[in-house]
Amino acid sequence: MDRIRIVGGNALNGVIPISGAKNAALPLMIASLLTSDTLTLENVPHLADVELLLRILGNHGVDIAVNGRREKQSGSYARTIHFTCRTIVDTTAPYDLVSKMRASFWVIGPLLAREGRARVSLPGGCAIGTRPVDFFIEGLQALGAIIEIDSGYVDAKAPSGGLVGAHFTFPKVSVGATHVMMMAASLARGTTVLKNAACEPEVVDLAHCLNAMGAKISGMGTRTITIEGVTSLSGARHQVLPDRIETGTYAMAVAMTGGDVTLTGTRAELLASALAPLEAAGAEIIHLDDGIRVIGHGDAIRPVDIVTEPVPGFPTDLQAQFMALMTRSQGISHVTETIFENRFMHVQELARLGAKISLHGQTARIEGVRSLRGAPVMATDLRASVSLVIAGLAAEGETLVNRVYHLDRGFERLEEKLSLCGAVVERISG
Ligand code: UD1
Repeated sequence: MDRIRIVGGNALNGVIPISGAKNAALPLMIASLLTSDTLTLENVPHLADVELLLRILGNHGVDIAVNGRREKQSGSYARTIHFTCRTIVDTTAPYDLVSKMRASFWVIGPLLAREGRARVSLPGGCAIGTRPVDFFIEGLQALGAIIEIDSGYVDAKAPSGGLVGAHFTFPKVSVGATHVMMMAASLARGTTVLKNAACEPEVVDLAHCLNAMGAKISGMGTRTITIEGVTSLSGARHQVLPDRIETGTYAMAVAMTGGDVTLTGTRAELLASALAPLEAAGAEIIHLDDGIRVIGHGDAIRPVDIVTEPVPGFPTDLQAQFMALMTRSQGISHVTETIFENRFMHVQELARLGAKISLHGQTARIEGVRSLRGAPVMATDLRASVSLVIAGLAAEGETLVNRVYHLDRGFERLEEKLSLCGAVVERISG
């Protein structure tokens, strides 16, 4: 199993190209199931989760053509992938694939809308919380679907005339359930109104792509999304939006190690709620035409409290990274997690590096220390593992991050990007 070896202590200086967003690419790829025409996506990141979804889509009958060469786009290597699903050859998404990645459950929306049926494995538990699928089921039932849970599978059938538009209010904001409802309602008869919908930029990106395919979606980016159903969707060409979580992660790394890094191919407005506390912590953020420049002062980090919330709040996917930064602040800070019930597994690993953190329910109290010391640590989930990398970059001595397959799910060429900015980071294979 691969490990990442980091020798901490170097400031980061240079340029890091930001990749296309994993969390945008996945639902966009799934949208290719909605049409028999070709959907072309540009700026698709090269990540384990994307590769897995390519396999899943292939099983359903999607023909996939990846550009032979990686395109060089705004300084980053982005792939263009063409997806063509002339016919859906299989409406079942099996356990062995869906259990590896929760987002693959989202195929249920397009399969049901286009083929009138879908049999998709329940995604199962997840390290960061129980993550049930009740909102998906209730939402699709509101569109007329008949749903049974059978042998660990969600078996969904559309009524004889197809799905029917409806009003549906999400009990709690859910990114995935909003994606699925937008896709399913796009091919339903009549108008669907989604209340308490997710406003995340990735939801807006999917809505724009669906509209380019002929859907009639309005209100994306607000809590109420209206979808007028159409009888069919066509192909389109769409560019995946930049990864705001990758952007925020590197910004926090610079704030912690000190240095001066320009993050290219990204947009500050995608992560305003994360950049504000970063500035409050002492980092300088300069908005550029094609990205942001981050200047960190390393030793003069101010304590800042954050609470994770759906957009426009602080993103849960940057919580672990911000906590890593706070471990070296000059005081006491609090990090409260409100989205997932078990998203503090990085706490005990950060403690191995010398961090002082105590947990009080959903709030972590972090007492900043003067320095961290490198140690072997274990990656537990995608965002937690990158928080350990950030902490390792700022720690004295050597940190070995084990189980790096979590990182490969969501961070493209992490070692390369950090090494080019002066970090001592290498992958040890085997
Ligand atoms: C997406 C992101 C993930 C991010 C999360 C929250 C992708 C691929 N993943 O995950 O990185 O951390 O949004 O911003 O885009 N819930 C239910 N029932 C449901 C659905 C959700 O109770 O049917 C709960 C979840 O357990 C969680 C909350 O709703 O507590 C929000 O989850 P959700 O927004 O659905 O997360 P994902 O879409 O899975």
